[in-house]
Amino acid sequence: MCGIIGYTGPLEASKILLEGLSGLEYRGYDSAGIALCMEDSQIRVVKKAGKVKNLEEYCRQQISGTAHSGIGHTRWATHGGVTDTNAHPHRAGKVVLIHNGIIENYHALTEKFHLEDKLLSQTDSEVAAQVLNCLYEGDPLAAIHKLIDLLDGSYSFCIMFEDQPGAVYAIRNVSPLVAASTPSGSLIASDLTALIPYSRQYFVVPEQHIVKLTPYKIHVYHLDDTYTKAYPEIMTVNWNMDAAMKNGFPHFMLKEIHEQPDALRNTILPRVNKGIPDFGEDGIPDSIFKECSQIQIIACGTAMYAGMVARAIMQPLLRIPVTVSIASEFRYEEPLIDEKSLVIIISQSGETIDTLAALRLAHRCGSTVLAVVNVKGSTIARESNYVLYTHAGPEIAVASTKAYSVQLAALYMICCRMALVRGKYTREQACSFLADLLDVIPAMETMIAQKEMIRDVASHIISSPDAFFIGRGLDYAFSLEGALKLKEISYIHSEAYAAGELKHGTIALISDQVPVIAIATQEHVYSKTISNIREVKARGAFVILLVKENAVVDDNLADIRIRIPDVDDHFTVFPIAAALQLIAYYASLGKHLDVDQPRNLAKSVTVE
Ligand code: F6R
Repeated sequence: MCGIIGYTGPLEASKILLEGLSGLEYRGYDSAGIALCMEDSQIRVVKKAGKVKNLEEYCRQQISGTAHSGIGHTRWATHGGVTDTNAHPHRAGKVVLIHNGIIENYHALTEKFHLEDKLLSQTDSEVAAQVLNCLYEGDPLAAIHKLIDLLDGSYSFCIMFEDQPGAVYAIRNVSPLVAASTPSGSLIASDLTALIPYSRQYFVVPEQHIVKLTPYKIHVYHLDDTYTKAYPEIMTVNWNMDAAMKNGFPHFMLKEIHEQPDALRNTILPRVNKGIPDFGEDGIPDSIFKECSQIQIIACGTAMYAGMVARAIMQPLLRIPVTVSIASEFRYEEPLIDEKSLVIIISQSGETIDTLAALRLAHRCGSTVLAVVNVKGSTIARESNYVLYTHAGPEIAVASTKAYSVQLAALYMICCRMALVRGKYTREQACSFLADLLDVIPAMETMIAQKEMIRDVASHIISSPDAFFIGRGLDYAFSLEGALKLKEISYIHSEAYAAGELKHGTIALISDQVPVIAIATQEHVYSKTISNIREVKARGAFVILLVKENAVVDDNLADIRIRIPDVDDHFTVFPIAAALQLIAYYASLGKHLDVDQPRNLAKSVTVE
């Protein structure tokens, strides 16, 4: 959600912080601020509601002199509206801090420390700053330790103390932080994108450890009585900065849509051995596939919709129950999973807090957890029994595109391997399944190459307040993701319906010119879906129909037809996804909206 960066070293801190914040802006972006330790050791705080661009302009007016250490923050509001005062950093006496997460007991702490009259903002974060100031008697480690003992909730903090010039402290619980010691100084951030310009080597800040950044060294301390030193594993980033730039595309989303064929190759090919999926290099044993009696898939948003597609593929093939749950619901249920269950957690960021909580619940139930994750070393990856990394590279646009396709590819491969080890597939059948999966790569390329045609399709829906997506079976699972994509970046209210369900109420909303995006790629339900399309057409809907290249379609069935390249029915999700992503992209563009940073959203959802 919020983006965090801290720096201390020989370079000009304001430049590093502001550049870092621009790179982090996609995480959360309603306000931004920095705090700098100036030459006279005073800490200067500059913050502003709005985009990082506003802050840059404001800093030019407000800051004179140089600084070699500081902290910076982009905010995604939770407690308190979007105002300059609620923006971070927050100052309390000698303490200046930035925070990502939620302090659940901020109200109790306000009362306990009699802060009512001292607080300037409506944020839980300022309460943490005030409490830390009350606890601070010149020893940062001791004060931070006492603060942590008092806090309930999730957090990552970067902290400066006015009498500790040049030092930046940090601590986290759940919310992510990574750090790097580089020849250009020491850096810490909520996200690797802020560190990559300076270093490819980094470490994940361990939970409940205090980090102290000095210009040339980073110290990590256990939260014990003597603050013994810890030495987290140094990791290497597996992508370069180019991957996090637009590279000539007007938006990250369009670039990421185009990157899908390569992302699929990178995810699939290293796991192909003699024509079948092989997870030996990933350290995933066949026993977890062979011995489970059910599969429980858990995720949020787009990742959950990838899980719904996987369920529709897996259950009929494997003949075991496959359940998909929304993480934020699953974690409060009493789930029917046990040591015989394989839990598959799907997450691009590997940090989504509800998904993480569901994972921890699965562990408590004794289940084996296999995570499908994009971000290396993320919390979900580290806490799972096994990880199948997707290799999408960094996904910067808020709307997930390439992460969805590679999640699907990983899940299809898992399905194929499971079918093989459970005796549902012969080697030949597994080879043929994998060959079909590889065929989706050129199919996606062909679909993406038709973007100008899809731009024209999108122009027909941009003035509509509502849109409906319909499909049956797998096509319904694709519709769910299509509707999410459209609503999140075009703000057109979009709903997905199982095509046969529409007439049980929702068809009341279909009237003249309401766009209905109908997906009919599944042969075994094709004629049924076509009948449902006729029902909406008869009520005046403007029908955009997505069908396979060779499907026979009556001329008067749809207003617009999008033909997808011919792939096996089980695999049509890939070209369909590209088409639906492009419809959403061009609808957003046509409405002159902020495609990459839609309102109210953040890339990594680290609050519950
Ligand atoms: C939508 C989108 C979100 C995420 C969801 C889960 O385009 O990106 O719905 O899919 O927030 O995020 P991860 O995969 O990081 O757990």
